[in-house]
Amino acid sequence: MESNIIIFDKNTLEYDRWFEKHSNIYQSEILALKEAIPRNKKGVEIGSGTGRFSFPFKINIGVEPSFNMSKLAEKKGMTVINAVAENLPFHEHSFDFALMATTVCFLSDIPKAFSEVRRILKPQGEIILAIIDKNSDLGRKYEKEKSKNKFYREAHFHSTQEITEHLKQAGFHNFSYWQTLAKTNANEIEQPKRGFGEGSFVVIKAIKN
Ligand SMILES: C[S@@+](CC[C@H](N)C(=O)[O-])C[C@H]1O[C@@H](n2cnc3c(N)ncnc32)[C@H](O)[C@@H]1O
Repeated sequence: MESNIIIFDKNTLEYDRWFEKHSNIYQSEILALKEAIPRNKKGVEIGSGTGRFSFPFKINIGVEPSFNMSKLAEKKGMTVINAVAENLPFHEHSFDFALMATTVCFLSDIPKAFSEVRRILKPQGEIILAIIDKNSDLGRKYEKEKSKNKFYREAHFHSTQEITEHLKQAGFHNFSYWQTLAKTNANEIEQPKRGFGEGSFVVIKAIKN
C-alpha cells in the first residue's frame, strides 16, 4: 500500500490542476475560508500542498511532507519546510494562526498534530481547519468510492463533531463553523453559511485556551 505522501509526490501536477478544472468548487471553498482566516496576521499552512489555499490568504510559510508538492509551492513563491504536522519545526508561540486545509484526514496521529499546532500558536492563537465532513454527501461519496480515488484512497474522513472533540482535548475552545458545497452540482459558486450539517466542506475555527 502506497503512503498518501508518495501518492501526492507522484501526482503533484494532476492534484494542482484539479483546482482549475473545478474552479467553482475551489472558489466556494475560498469564500468559506475567507470567513475564518484573519487578515494581516502571521500564519502558517500545515499540509500546504501546492499552496492553493495559502496564496489567496497571503500565507507564505508552509509545512509539507511531499517534496514535489512543496517544490511547486516554492516555485510560486512560498517558503515550505519538509516536515509533518505531528512534529512541527517551529518554536512555541511562533504564529497568530495555523491553517490545515483538507489535511486532517491524512494525519497519522491527530492528537499529536493538534497539540503541536497549539504549541506553535501565540496565546489566543487560532487554528483553522477545512474538512470534508464524513457525514456529508461528498464525505459519503468519497468514503464509498475511496478505493477508486487516487488521492483519497488513504484518507480517513471524520465528522465535524469528532474533530471538535479532538480540538477540545488538545486545548482549544470558542468554536466557529462555516460550510459550503451544500449543492451536489457545482454549476455555480456558493456563498458560505454559518454552522455545519448541510455543506460537505466545513471550516472549523477554534482558539487556543
Ligand atoms: C488533500 S492535500 C491538501 C493540500 C493543500 N492543503 C490543499 O488544500 O490544496 C493533503 C496534503 O497533506 C499532506 N500530508 C499528508 N500527511 C501529512 C502529515 N502527517 N502532516 C502534514 N501534511 C501531511 C499531503 O502530502 C498533501 O499535500
